[in-house]
Parts: sequence; structure tokens; C-alpha cells
Amino acid sequence: MYRILSSRSLPLSLSHKFNITNIRGIKTLKFGNVNENIVEKSDYPRKKVHEILNDENITVLGYGPQGRSQALNMIDNGFNVKVGLRKGGSSWKKAISDGFIENDTLFPLIEAVKQGTIIMNLLSDAGQKQTWNELKNYITKGKTLYFSHGFSIVYSDQTKVIPSNDIDVIMVAPKGSGTTLRKSFKEGKGVNSSVAIYQDVSGKAKDKAYSLGISIGSGYMYDTTFEKEVFSDLFGERGILMWAICGLFHAQYQILREKGHSPSEAFNETVEEATQSLIPLISENGMDWMFANCSTTAQRGALDWYPKFRDNNLPLFRELYDKVQSGEETRRVLTENSKSNYKEKLNKELKKLHESEIWKAGKVVRSLRPKEKHYYII
Ligand SMILES: NC(=O)c1ccc[n+]([C@@H]2O[C@H](COP(=O)([O-])OP(=O)(O)OC[C@H]3O[C@@H](n4cnc5c(N)ncnc54)[C@H](OP(=O)(O)O)[C@@H]3O)[C@@H](O)[C@H]2O)c1
Repeated sequence: MYRILSSRSLPLSLSHKFNITNIRGIKTLKFGNVNENIVEKSDYPRKKVHEILNDENITVLGYGPQGRSQALNMIDNGFNVKVGLRKGGSSWKKAISDGFIENDTLFPLIEAVKQGTIIMNLLSDAGQKQTWNELKNYITKGKTLYFSHGFSIVYSDQTKVIPSNDIDVIMVAPKGSGTTLRKSFKEGKGVNSSVAIYQDVSGKAKDKAYSLGISIGSGYMYDTTFEKEVFSDLFGERGILMWAICGLFHAQYQILREKGHSPSEAFNETVEEATQSLIPLISENGMDWMFANCSTTAQRGALDWYPKFRDNNLPLFRELYDKVQSGEETRRVLTENSKSNYKEKLNKELKKLHESEIWKAGKVVRSLRPKEKHYYII
């Protein structure tokens, strides 16, 4: 639950909810009992953003999901953007097919860094480590180094990414995939982002970070630190966002199958109902609402069982956070990613998951989602 503490005004959707009529611009909101600062478009209107970034040359390194989306959104927001890539890689071809022109808007990495005053390092996290030794020589005094993840900086003992102390170092980390960032920008919405400052040499690092945040298509921007961002991100994606949910799906499906339920029944009761019915409702109204609005039978079971699942999983989540914090997870990512047979090994692991019964059953169940009206109008 959040409560407005101070506000110049609110966006329409929220002002409606809170019965406040003036429009746009939140400063401090109360989340539970904690106050947090939030910045959005009205704090950095187009004119202000262009004034702040006017004298800068913007270079985006990398053209993966984030590099592509952030570069294209900035261009659509009226900025000249140069992209730096390794020549001949798959990203190079992709950038050309999107309209970037070699030696005009598309350059090899070093040349792009030389030309930029703001270097947005959106290479893969392993790529940032591999290229740093060369690139650092061209990220010179007065420039700004931008990341979308705290990874390279926080784990600098492993990545060796240690910026010189005469540059600004900032972060805008969209809390969504690059594909979502682009899609929601085109729809006129935005993805929320975390913003952090690691070094503010110019005294303007915050202004630059928020301006870039708006320009790449952020909706609301939440202040954080490099460390908090990377710990929560690595923890969350290994936890609920991807692997915990996958592990729980598999465990429940396995028991249903062992007890003689058919694949379709096991899948429907494990994944399909969750993603199609309950998760969208949780998204709209929260879990508390769900508990208050399900059948009394489901309600009794849920209230009895959620503490057991919580308590049984707590040690695993603690172990995970500790491994993120200690850098063990990072060590594994960097070691695995730098093996010459990495892709081959990865494809094998993904194939195994792809061919497991649960996800094969899922493919069939998804194909049977009613697309038309499946009832007769009398
Ligand atoms: N994906 C997300 O959902 C997400 C969300 C928020 C933040 N982030 C962060 O944003 C950053 C970029 O992530 P991403 O997912 O967009 O990128 P990615 O897919 O992990 O990285 C792709 C880019 O890195 C380049 N690259 C990798 N190694 C390289 C090397 N040694 N030399 C030159 N280029 C190299 C690739 O070029 P080639 O095509 O030539 O290999 C490609 O352009 C990361 O810090 C990530 O943690 C990602």
C-alpha cells in the first residue's frame, strides 16, 4: 500500500485512484512504512532533457535486447545515437538492417567510444569484462559511463571494470526486457527503471541519468545503488522470476503425474490456470485480494499452506542471496560464459527442458486455448 507524502501532482490514473485532481509529477511515496523518491516524465520534460544532453555525443555499445531498444527509443526521442559493435558479429548485421550506416552511425567498438561523451555500455555482462581493458583508454576525463546493470562495477574484483575517478558513472536499469522496453515505448507507455549514481564528478550525474532514463523509455524511475540493483536483480531472476517458479512448476507437475494424473490435467492445474487466470488477477489486485475472493475451500488451503511453502523455501532463498552477495553466482556466470563450448552446452541444457513432458504438454494445451466464442447464442 502506498500513500502520497508530497506531490506536485499525480498522473491521471493515480490521481483518479487517490481522488486528487491536479495532474502529473510524483516526488515521494510511502511504500508500506518506507518513503521512496520517484521521478517521471514531468520532472524531466522534453525541453529540459534536450538541454541537459544537448552537448553530449551518445554512443551505445552493444545491440542485444537492451542496446537495440535503448538506441532506437533515443533516436525516436530526437537524439543522434552512434552504435559501437564488433564488426561482423550478428549484432552488426542487425544494426545495418535497422538502418544504421557504417562509419556514419555504426562503428567498431573503439571508434564509437572515442566519439562518444556518454558511453552507454550495453554489451553483455561478460562482454563488458572482455572488452574493458581496451575500451577504458578511450573513456577519458569528463566523459560519462552508463550501465543498465550494476554487474561490472559491483563485481569489479572479478570483472576488473574499474573506472577512472575523473568520469561520471551512472546506471539506468529498466525492470523489463529490451523487447518490452521498445514495445511499450511504441505504445506510448514506459517500463519502470532503477537509477543509481556511482561517481558524480561533474555534479550533473543525476540529471544526466534521469534524462537518459526518460529518453530510453522509462516510465517511473526509482533511486537505488549499483549494489542494491545487482543483488536484487540476480537474486530475483534466479528466484521467483524464473528458476524458483520453474522449479515449483516441475515439482507440482511431477507429483501429479506420479499420482496418475494425465499430462493435460497436471499442466492445466499447475501452469495454465496460474498464468491464464490467477497471475493476471494477482497483477491487477494483489495476492491479498485473491485470498479474499476465492472459494472458501481454496482459501482455507491457501492460508494453511502458504506459510509452509514460505518457511521451507526460506533457507534456499537465503543461500541464493548469500551466493549473489559473495560473488559466487557472478563467478559462475563469467566462468561458464567464457568457455569455448558455452553455446553448445547451453543448447543441450535448453533442449532437455524443451523436450521435458511438462513443456511438451504445455505446447498442446496452449494450442487449445479457445480463440473464438465456444458457446452457442440461443
Ligand atoms: N536483457 C534484459 O532483460 C536486461 C534488462 C535490464 C538490463 N540488462 C543489462 O543490459 C546489458 C545488455 O544486456 P542485453 O541482454 O541487451 O545484451 P546481451 O544479449 O547480453 O549482449 C549482447 C551484445 O553484447 C555484444 N558482445 C558480447 N560480447 C562481446 C565482445 N566480447 N565484444 C563485443 N561485443 C560483445 C554482442 O555482440 P555480437 O552480436 O557481436 O555477439 C551483442 O551486441 C547487460 O548489462 C544486462 O545485464 C539486460
